[in-house]
Formats: sequence, C-alpha cells, structure tokens
Amino acid sequence: MNQFDEAYFDAGINRVGTHCAKWDEMRRETGDPDMIPMWVADMDFPSPPAVQQALEGAARQGTWGYTHPCDEDFEALCGYWKRRHNTDIRPDDVLMSPCVVTGLRIAVRALTREGDGLLINPPIYGPFFASIKESGRRIVESPLVQDGEGRWSLNFEEMEEKLASGEAKAVMFCSPHNPCGRVWSKEELTRLAALCAKYAAPLICDEIHADFVFAPGVHHSILTIPGGENAVMLCAASKTFNIAGLQQSAIVCRDAEKREKIAREMVASGVVSGNIFALAATRAAYTDCDAWLDGLLCYLAGNRDFAAEYAARRWPKIRVTPLDATYLMWLDCRALNLSQEDLMERILKAHVKVNDGLFFGELGRGFIRLNIGCPRGQLRQALERLDAVLA
Ligand SMILES: Cc1ncc(COP(=O)(O)O)c(C=O)c1O
Repeated sequence: MNQFDEAYFDAGINRVGTHCAKWDEMRRETGDPDMIPMWVADMDFPSPPAVQQALEGAARQGTWGYTHPCDEDFEALCGYWKRRHNTDIRPDDVLMSPCVVTGLRIAVRALTREGDGLLINPPIYGPFFASIKESGRRIVESPLVQDGEGRWSLNFEEMEEKLASGEAKAVMFCSPHNPCGRVWSKEELTRLAALCAKYAAPLICDEIHADFVFAPGVHHSILTIPGGENAVMLCAASKTFNIAGLQQSAIVCRDAEKREKIAREMVASGVVSGNIFALAATRAAYTDCDAWLDGLLCYLAGNRDFAAEYAARRWPKIRVTPLDATYLMWLDCRALNLSQEDLMERILKAHVKVNDGLFFGELGRGFIRLNIGCPRGQLRQALERLDAVLA
C-alpha cells in the first residue's frame, strides 16, 4: 500500500510564515489574513520525505562552496524521463538552467533574431509573451479554439499560414497546456513537428507540467515524436515536487548546433546553474519519489473530480474546461456578464485569490484560473466562498 494516501495529502502543510509567495506575499499585498490562496502554481503539500532528507543532508555539510551539476544530476534526470515518460534523453544533450522561464528566454534569444516573430497559442502562461517581447522579438498569435464541450485545440491551418508567410520564424509551445489543461495527442504533436520541419522553424516546447497528466492519459514528450527529436524541450522537477523556490530546470536538445547556440547564450547572459541545495533536492526528486508522485496524482484527480462536480451542481453559468492535466482549472465565467475588474474584485471580496485570466493574454478575458493543488478541505472551503460570485 502506498503510504502517500488520501490522509497524507489531506493533512497538507502550513506554509504561513515561510516567506512563500502563495500565502505570505498574498497576505502582505491584500492585508487580508482570511484570504484563501488558489492562485500561483505551487501546491500546499509537503515535498516528498526524500527531498527533505536531501536538503537536510546538504544543510548539514556546514560549507557550501561552488558546486556544478555532475554526472549523477544528469543521470537522475535521464533515468526519470525514461521511467516516467518512456523518453530517451542522453546526458550530453542536457543543459542545466536555473528555472524554466530563464530557459524560455535563453532559447528565444539563441534560436531567433531580433525582430523575428514567434508563434504562440493563447490563452497561454504569461511569461511566454514576456520572454518574446522583452527579447525584442514579435509575438505572433494563433489562438486555441474551443469545441462545444469547452475543450481547446490547435488551429493548424492558421499556424501554417503564419509560418508559411514568414510572419513566425519559430514556435513556442506548452505541453501539457497551461492554462487549458490539454494533453496533446501523438497525432497533434506529429502535425506540429511536421509544420516546424517544413518551414525550418525551431520548436521550443515547455514540458514543465508533463508529470501531471491524469490516467488514462499519457504525456508524449515532443522528443519522442517523429520529426520532434530536435526540438528544444524544457523541463523541471520544480512543479511536480513542490520545489519551485529552489530554481532548477533543464534544457534538452539533441541538435548539437542549436544546443551550442543555447549554451553560448547562457554564457553571454550570465546564466549559471549550480545551486547546491537545488541540485541535491532535484536528484532526490528524480530518483526516490515515485511513490509520492503516484499518490499525489491520485489525490489531485480526486480534487479535479470534486471541483468539477461542485461547479456542475452549483454554478450553472460557469463552464469548467475538462482537465486532462495540471492542477490548474480554467473556468469560463463569461456568462456572468461581469467586467474582468469586477469579477476579480468580487472574488477577492469573497476572500479567495485566483489568477486573473488576463495573465494568459487578452483571450483570457472572462476567465479565471483556480489552483486545486491543496488539501480537499481547503478546496471545499474556497469553492463554497466562490458561490458568492459564481453561483
Ligand atoms: C508552462 C509553465 N512554464 C514555466 C513555469 C515556471 O517555471 P519556473 O518556475 O521553473 O520558471 C510555469 C509555472 O507556472 C508554467 O506553468
């Protein structure tokens, strides 16, 4: 029996006073000690015991000089991706980076030129926009389209037009997708990879949410897709094991020429990876925490069903996007006919903090993102409070 059962995750962890953004920063900013945080994407669960032990071990060393990623770090990552996602990664193809957003910026700068257009599929994680704009590149949008059930998909015809015309020179993709919770199928990814190959457009694929695909779904890394072998894939243990505050991630690229460009850009930007605590925690996460992760996925699937059933029962005007992956629920509140400002203000007055849909681009107007990565008691309380606005 898995010791990381429902009771373990129900217990959660008190994060108040740990200087974390989700609780402490929110309380400072809102001045509301009663606010429930259902926003920024980390979870209110303890990290796995093996991660805690690794950090305690590093803390006990008593000296923390320069430390660089070593063979064990690369092997841990490769072993994990083989075991969990049936993806073969060679240690030589991995560059360590502080966090995924840093990796996105580095890849944009290394693989495109100033003024180039990068294709993205909004609504999408806010830093996708920023990493393009702030690098002097152009944002080229091909919005996701919604079907009758509220499921989102790609508009391949439009994507091809933008690549064929030269308006977009590269593609930045999110798989699974944040905030729409979509797991991309093998067929969709194959089509995407073929498009990029046809127009010689580098494909940068953020797979930070790969571990959060709910059964019976499967995450297909772009690296396993015919034609996607030479994409740039970004990943991290940070979301999965609740260690985002440590800042450690990886950039994987089999194509030596692209990888060297990325490595040069990292040097030019002064980006180095080698936080002794981050490396110790990540090694442990990738080697000794599978049972914890299996337990977590069961628990989160329970939260997803609980929240979806609650919304279906009590909020007739709200459409919940089917959640195939991630603990981030994308709620369509447009039928309430409220302005975005009004919607967000009313939710705050109900003492719940969620993410504003506009963080994911203009297409997020009328939407909110609800983080369900917390004990079910907290989730229930937040949902009950949201009745005041959404019911
Ligand atoms: C798609 C996506 N990429 C990257 C990140 C952030 O990763 P990091 O903290 O490693 O920069 C997030 C966090 O929510 C995310 O959703």
